[in-house]
Amino acid sequence: MTQDELKQAVARAAIDYVVDGEIIGVGTGSTANFFIDELAKIKQRIKGAVASSEATAARLAGHGIAVFDLNDVAEIAVYIDGADEITAAGAMIKGGGAALTREKIVASVSKQFVCIADGSKLVETMGKFALPVEVLPMARAAVTRQLAALGGQPKLRLKPGTDQAFITDNGGMIIDVAGLAISEPVALEQRINQIVGVIAVGLFAQRGANVCLLGTPDGVRTLTF
Ligand code: A5P
Repeated sequence: MTQDELKQAVARAAIDYVVDGEIIGVGTGSTANFFIDELAKIKQRIKGAVASSEATAARLAGHGIAVFDLNDVAEIAVYIDGADEITAAGAMIKGGGAALTREKIVASVSKQFVCIADGSKLVETMGKFALPVEVLPMARAAVTRQLAALGGQPKLRLKPGTDQAFITDNGGMIIDVAGLAISEPVALEQRINQIVGVIAVGLFAQRGANVCLLGTPDGVRTLTF
């Protein structure tokens, strides 16, 4: 099975977690895109969706799924999104697609977080995937110094094929921190959250996943936390 087929399989399996008549929180990335395409097939069963990025909002709307502003929604039954790394305890690194801040906000008001990922994303210790941190542009250098002091190798994310900083949907910049062996994800998330100028860190440990659907060649494996 290809990686895309594994992603498609978990996207299909995630439909079982969609709550009829409700607004669904929808993540960002290639796995989330497969999920949106599956959601489109049952769109008459849901009220609509809250998107975690402009790209996701556009894909949802393209399928004719109503996209709600989070300010008009009190609570979301389920949030479905991919991950860059996930541990057996349900902690994740997210933000490879630069949508970590909105993903974290939508996840925070969702009763259940269902992570969908191909099996390669399951790790014992997070940190091989560089940890994304969204920052206010004026704090870029100051935050970079503090992230280096934590023992990582921070690098400003660039717009592909240019030497210009990548700018997020929120007008922020992303610093990717390589070389962290994240043995205490909750403590590290709290520590980075305290750095002035950080908008959000792509560590989802304080509020991790409740369920992870992992795509493997033997089928979809369900982990619950
Ligand atoms: C987007 O910002 C990310 O958090 C994605 O959920 C994560 O990068 C996983 O993306 P893929 O599904 O494309 O691997």
